[in-house]
Amino acid sequence: MKKTFGFLVAAVVASLVGASSANAQVKVPDDIQALLTKHTCFACHQADNRLVGPAYTEVAKKKYTNEKIVELIYKPQPENWPGYPPMAPMTQVPKEDALKLAAWINSLAPKAAPAAKKKS
Ligand code: HEC
Repeated sequence: MKKTFGFLVAAVVASLVGASSANAQVKVPDDIQALLTKHTCFACHQADNRLVGPAYTEVAKKKYTNEKIVELIYKPQPENWPGYPPMAPMTQVPKEDALKLAAWINSLAPKAAPAAKKKS
């Protein structure tokens, strides 16, 4: 019994790790990772996959200014994301943290398409 349980845990962990690295082209810096975890953003967002909310790489494509992203964290505008549920306003996030997250999100915008290697 114990062995089976251990195996199940290992399988679940492996599949979680597999799922998050399968598409992992975005490496989240430790300080940003800490903020996203602390402010629960990760419950609904991933860097490069749709979850409850849009991937941050998709948000980056909207070309908001950092200030605009901070504003949207405090006062989301669900009409910007048809097909998604509305995000709750995250007014508890200190401005300083929100700005750091905004700058990071914008850093995910495609530049000279380095992620477009897959074209065979
Ligand atoms: C409960 C789920 C949930 C949490 C927690 C959450 N978000 Fe969202 N977020 C969403 C959804 C859903 C959308 C798309 C709909 C919307 O904008 O209301 C979204 C949209 C966004 C957008 C795009 C706004 C726009 O109008 O283009 C940004 C930026 C964002 N979230 C950042 C964050 C950050 C930073 C945090 C943590 C401080 C966070 N979100 C926490 C669900 C969430």
